[in-house]
Amino acid sequence: MLIVANWKAYVEEQSKAKKLFELAKRLASATDISIVLAPPAPLLGALAARNKSKVAFAAQDVSRTTGGAFTGEATAQAYAAAGATYAIIGHSERRSAGDTDPIIAEKLAHALAHGLRPILCIGESERDGEGRYLATVREEMTAAIESLTPKERNEVIIAYEPLWAIGKTAAAAISPNDLAEMVLYIRKVLAELLPGKSSRGSLILYGGSVEPENARALVASSGVDGLLVGHASVDPDAFSVLVRQLA
Ligand code: PGA
Repeated sequence: MLIVANWKAYVEEQSKAKKLFELAKRLASATDISIVLAPPAPLLGALAARNKSKVAFAAQDVSRTTGGAFTGEATAQAYAAAGATYAIIGHSERRSAGDTDPIIAEKLAHALAHGLRPILCIGESERDGEGRYLATVREEMTAAIESLTPKERNEVIIAYEPLWAIGKTAAAAISPNDLAEMVLYIRKVLAELLPGKSSRGSLILYGGSVEPENARALVASSGVDGLLVGHASVDPDAFSVLVRQLA
């Protein structure tokens, strides 16, 4: 089971970042859960330097550039140098800040080129009665990974994050049944995108209002391989309960 803690911009102090990292280390060594932390870039650099623990680090995004005269950009190579081994790409909060499908495809390629395992976020903004949300999910997956080689496609972790469920409370998250249905659908699309290969090896995460109240039910029979946790990942008590109950 993989738990990715997306700290977003919630954590802004070294002291809080250090405390959450220490907690993650304790949880990772006390359980069989793989924990990946995604801190804001400067804090990632401070924590991941000389990291020898089981906890891994993810960039929350990578630049679409590969370096040069691009003030303010943090490239995949720079993240890798700072100690990240994963990269969240295409999060809805980046999509709403301008990331289009072609930009996301470029970012995936840069991440892979520098040894960062991409966590590709996809998800519909609303659930319509005609099932158009399924087409959205298919289009986002296809646009992001169709230009990758089969080997690279296998590396991509899919994080299904319906926009309507992000940043709320457990009651607003997807139901376990609807999630199970979506996981089957994502595996079907992956099977088409990975011809000749089994998509069963690909990892699928769920994200959107995961809290201690619903985490166990969401993973119990939905077929997901883990969770992408936002606000509950920066609350030490909530995160601790959440991880322990999945172990
Ligand atoms: P949330 O965020 O857990 O606060 O809903 C999840 C995400 O956006 O990755």
